[in-house]
Amino acid sequence: MKFLKYAFFSLVLFVPLNLQAQKLTWAEVEPGVWKAVAGKPETFDLLKAAGAIPYHTGLVEMGTTDFPLTKTAITATIVDGKTYLRFPLDKSEQLYGFGLNFKTVHQRGKILTLHVDNYAGKDDGHTHCPTPFYVSSKGYGVFINSARYIKVYAGTAVRLDSKTPPEIQDRNTDKNWKSHPYADAVDMLVPAEGVEIYVFGGPTAMDAVRRYNLLNGGGCLPPRWGLGFTQRMQRLTDAAGAAVEAKAFEDKGYPLDFIGLEPGWQSKSYPCTFEWDKARFPDPEKFVQDMLKKDIRINLWTNPYVSPEASVFPLIKPYAATHTVWNGAVVDLTIPKARDIFFGELKKNKIDIGVSGYKMDEVDGGDTYLWPDVAVFPSGHSAEQMRQTYGLMMQRYITELYHQRNQRTYGLVRASNGGGSLLPYVIYNDYYDHHDFITALINSGFAGVLWTPEVRASKTAEEWLRRFQSNIFSPMAMINAWASGTKPWTFPEVAEQVKQMANLRMQMMPYWYSEFAKYHFQGIPPFRAMDLEPGFKVVEVAKSTSNKKVNLEENPYEDVSAKEIKDQYMAGENILVAPMFTGQTSRTVILPKGKWYDFYTGKLAGDGQMITVTPGLDKIPVFVKDGGIIPMMPVMLHAPKADQKVDIEVRYYGEKPGAYRLYDDDGETFNYEKGNYSFREIKVERINGEITGHISGAITGKPNTIGKVTYKMMTE
Ligand code: GAL
Repeated sequence: MKFLKYAFFSLVLFVPLNLQAQKLTWAEVEPGVWKAVAGKPETFDLLKAAGAIPYHTGLVEMGTTDFPLTKTAITATIVDGKTYLRFPLDKSEQLYGFGLNFKTVHQRGKILTLHVDNYAGKDDGHTHCPTPFYVSSKGYGVFINSARYIKVYAGTAVRLDSKTPPEIQDRNTDKNWKSHPYADAVDMLVPAEGVEIYVFGGPTAMDAVRRYNLLNGGGCLPPRWGLGFTQRMQRLTDAAGAAVEAKAFEDKGYPLDFIGLEPGWQSKSYPCTFEWDKARFPDPEKFVQDMLKKDIRINLWTNPYVSPEASVFPLIKPYAATHTVWNGAVVDLTIPKARDIFFGELKKNKIDIGVSGYKMDEVDGGDTYLWPDVAVFPSGHSAEQMRQTYGLMMQRYITELYHQRNQRTYGLVRASNGGGSLLPYVIYNDYYDHHDFITALINSGFAGVLWTPEVRASKTAEEWLRRFQSNIFSPMAMINAWASGTKPWTFPEVAEQVKQMANLRMQMMPYWYSEFAKYHFQGIPPFRAMDLEPGFKVVEVAKSTSNKKVNLEENPYEDVSAKEIKDQYMAGENILVAPMFTGQTSRTVILPKGKWYDFYTGKLAGDGQMITVTPGLDKIPVFVKDGGIIPMMPVMLHAPKADQKVDIEVRYYGEKPGAYRLYDDDGETFNYEKGNYSFREIKVERINGEITGHISGAITGKPNTIGKVTYKMMTE
């Protein structure tokens, strides 16, 4: 009897009921997007912090698709107040995403803690934007809507009851014994008693990415001027200094759309007062307006930590966390009253007088200065939740201030997270590795954010030009001279080449702007990995170029991961960019299937193959698809104004008939949200060697900024 009792208890002990996997019910919340709820999700999550509202029209246009995974293979179990999630993984799958990584594009085999942080040189999940979203090469995506530090085992954890276990190897005798056996799942630990899970259908990985962005409201649409050139001034610059800088750009003929003021415009910084320094900026309104008259906008650096010497401090104090950052109060942005006071301060005498946007610094960490995880916020939201969402909330509420004025903004931020695709901000950081900056640009397309490989300083003219060249092919073309005081012409040996690149950026504005419109309305990231490009088969190229022997049966993704492509990327629909780095005179480029043409000459560069290019110092290798169209405008020093008509030169490459959707609106307001925009259809064909081009007519009642259209056949 005693024995039986013991047996009964041990049974109960070994199979506790709460370890049973939950039954997940999948609801198709938007076409091709499914949601399931595990346990009791928290009321505060990423989508709520970001204020994300799905762009339903865009999702409907994509249509529905099949649920991409076996539903029963996705499990959620609540253990010890935490949620364990498990998603199936095939042997041949590669994984992308899990936020803004800097060194790797392939994420299979990683163990990560998704944690908003200053990037410290390791892809371990601590980064400026650790989006809990991943995409599979099999053509689906998964998003975990939690504002917690999520632990991810991306195909590393092997279960005893696995139905597809790895081969058991004997290390004594097997030379190929592996310390990291194949695992058939992605496991995640969400430190909360429940969570919302989203699955995005394909059939392609790009479809899944698009659906993710559209669920967030679509990608952001910057104002036209945001896509011009921006110079961030050295710290402690005054109004006169900024005016001199603007004049130098004009006199030397370098484009300039906005100037960033770094620490020094405020009377005190670190912590910040949010008040203009009276000595350096005696008349801020006149300064901002005088600049605007020259078509130059002002962007203001700040971090959000409120100085006890700020006049707003007594009002803010009741809404501050227990812990400070650089002795400044950390406002609880989840409390509406606190927001009114804090964002009122960012508006007053700043946005009100014509400031075009903010650079919201240091909302990411690191731990040595940010609030600790033991900080308590008056709303009761934990320090962890606030850390994961502070950047999102800063972007959201500043954007709202601009929305109220029906004026678009385009700024910088050092932290973001899932849910933030629509927020018009570009991430940057203090890290400065050119290679890794390009890898981050590639990964930004999986993370639902924008990233700029900003140019700050360089040891040599070569480095300066190489960095500048890739920066021109990024979401924000910018020199950040806050510490160095550098200018585009700092290295006289390459000043002319730098000017040519800055001019090219301006000429390409119709292309960039149209590609951003596709980000907004269709969710297509403007800057993205080759892996999202149809017809890009790394494996095929890899097989022909790699001598590495791998056991493809046991570990097929190993071969793919050996061929991770992290130094070339797609920029918009038609362009492939392959940056050159200091010291390189030539490099290899993998061209996706089909013919590709040299952007500058229109000459055939290759056909679905790996090529070697030797472009010289003046050029960054750029290639255009067969039938690719690049709409260009004349070189201008500032972006065209809202009602300014601009002539378009349609550049056409290759042989295939080309089609392009050219986006048009006023470039400055949110009127596009009410349908005040158009996509004009461009078609180009080559008939008996003669080129014929056509653009659909302007739509009555919609903004029309398109002047004379000419066509240029780039390929002879
Ligand atoms: C850093 C930021 C730099 C610059 C500097 C000013 O945190 O990353 O770009 O703004 O602050 O102090």
